[in-house]
Amino acid sequence: MEKYSKCMVRIHWIHAALITFVLLSGGLILSEMPNNTDKIGSLKIHILLGLLITVITFVRLFKASKHPEMKPLEVGTGREQIIKWNHRLIYLVLIIVGLSGVIAANTSGLGDIVFFGKEAALYADATSFSKLAGGVHAVATKLLMFLIVMHVAGIVSYMLKIKENVLKRMWF
Ligand code: HEM
Ligand code: HEM
Repeated sequence: MEKYSKCMVRIHWIHAALITFVLLSGGLILSEMPNNTDKIGSLKIHILLGLLITVITFVRLFKASKHPEMKPLEVGTGREQIIKWNHRLIYLVLIIVGLSGVIAANTSGLGDIVFFGKEAALYADATSFSKLAGGVHAVATKLLMFLIVMHVAGIVSYMLKIKENVLKRMWF
């Protein structure tokens, strides 16, 4: 079976673990915390990991552009296109989430508060951000969750139907 290079496999799984952690902790914990100074530690971790994910996204896109083209899975032209667009949209939405996060944090002065000890009240609510960037960040993270669920469901359904362990393509 054709396989992704070791480097692409390593990046895929490190990226997947970080994204899952930041999506779940962001959506379930961070967004539920009251906006007081106790939140600064969690915001620091969120922002650092979010920036790391965004850097990895660009490295991964660069590596993918050098990677020999993989033969698509034999699923029929319709599903082949869905898989191709699912992968492209995951990359695109990851960039949107990262950039909107940076803009949201900058417009609410979070950088100085979280990293440089500036003593100021944390934003009162999401409206203290650039509303557009904060809104885009929240909506894009939901879209990312949907794309990832679709990605994993697609792989599981392929394995059940075709009875072939497609995970080997993304393993060492
Ligand atoms: C946060 C979670 C995840 C993200 C963001 C993600 C993203 C991606 C992307 C973008 C690709 C396409 C790689 C490329 O061609 O550049 C891919 C491929 C793949 N992923 Fe994931 N993935 C995630 C989780 C998972 C999980 C949990 C599984 C296992 C069930 C999985 C299994 C695979 C496999 C087998 C491929 C290769 C598919 C093929 O050969 O066409 N991924 N993933
Ligand atoms: C690319 C990876 C990232 C993911 C997956 C992610 C995910 C999330 C999620 C799920 C939320 C909760 C949204 C909601 O309210 O429903 C959130 C909130 C937030 N994120 Fe991110 N984020 C990422 C990167 C970043 C970056 C790079 C920054 C800043 C530089 C950032 C700053 C924020 C801020 C300020 C909030 C609002 C926290 C609050 O509710 O008070 N994020 N993020």
